Amino acid sequence: MTAPIRENLSGIDLRAEIERLRKERNAVILAHYYQKPEIQDLADFVGDSLELSRKAADTDADVIAFCGVKFMAETAKILSPEKTVILPDMDAGCSLEDSCPPEQFKRFRESHPDHIALTYINCSAAVKALSDIIVTSSSAETIISQIPESQPIIFGPDRHLGGYLNRKFGREMLLWPGVCIVHEAFSETELLKLKAQHPDAPVAAHPECPPHIVDHADYVGSTSGILQFAKSFPGDTLIVATEPHIIHQMELALPEKTFIGAPGADGNCNCNICPYMALNTMEKLYLALRDLKPQIEMEEDLRLAARKSLDRMLEMASGTVGKGDLGRA
Ligand code: 13P
Ligand code: SF4
Repeated sequence: MTAPIRENLSGIDLRAEIERLRKERNAVILAHYYQKPEIQDLADFVGDSLELSRKAADTDADVIAFCGVKFMAETAKILSPEKTVILPDMDAGCSLEDSCPPEQFKRFRESHPDHIALTYINCSAAVKALSDIIVTSSSAETIISQIPESQPIIFGPDRHLGGYLNRKFGREMLLWPGVCIVHEAFSETELLKLKAQHPDAPVAAHPECPPHIVDHADYVGSTSGILQFAKSFPGDTLIVATEPHIIHQMELALPEKTFIGAPGADGNCNCNICPYMALNTMEKLYLALRDLKPQIEMEEDLRLAARKSLDRMLEMASGTVGKGDLGRA
């Protein structure tokens, strides 16, 4: 349960205070595209999981204020252990991480000793430590294409991303049965109704979506890939099947175009807003910068073990420029 804020912050100019503290602390604010617009607007850098990992590894700030979810802030700590990494709300988790407890994942690995473990970055540090190579949605294609076809693979925790990669590459990776509750919530029926209303609008979907959504997409890729597609498609209206806060960046970059979020089950729900990402607020970011907590802390043994599979990703994805390599425009 997220602890309520007990202080009265109503008289505080949060934006100005965050600016002041950012300088005072020599902090960098990193934000994922799924954060609320007011947080995206004050971040030093907004990006997808791969880009944010790279920024965390490269920064010379003393403090990383990570506006995203816990596995992302943990990744920052694994890559930059000497930095103080703060996450505005430590309860900002992820359904994919929750679906994959390390002990069960360990047993899964042990029951397939001839397989390597290719693992989506949306998992705990302990699962990263049990993995051979981490992927993000923008690096997965580049990385898979470097693994010999004869090499058996287990892929977790997102069965939709894994299934998409299997179909696209003709692989038979064994899939962990996890899903993202946000991308799982899009409705095929409602999407088809929307497409009928906008017959010229392409659909861009994240590969965390189930096949019945991805199969209707003109473009499939990571958040940064979808953003690139929004910039390059020739029409004026795009249907976006991922967490809708990314539309903020599209509207900033392309005010003349129209972006429509793909609908959830009743056609009008908020079920595609990530409830974990939404836990981060301006108030909590201000308090985190002021108090330098909550902080990510990690045992050194675990950090070093998790770092190996992340380093492998960074090496193997070195040619990938957050461009949504899964794209099939
Ligand atoms: P990317 O930003 O890598 O596309 O990942 C999306 C996501 O679900 C983050 O939780
Ligand atoms: Fe996890 Fe899905 Fe939220 Fe991303 S959008 S953090 S995968 S629950």
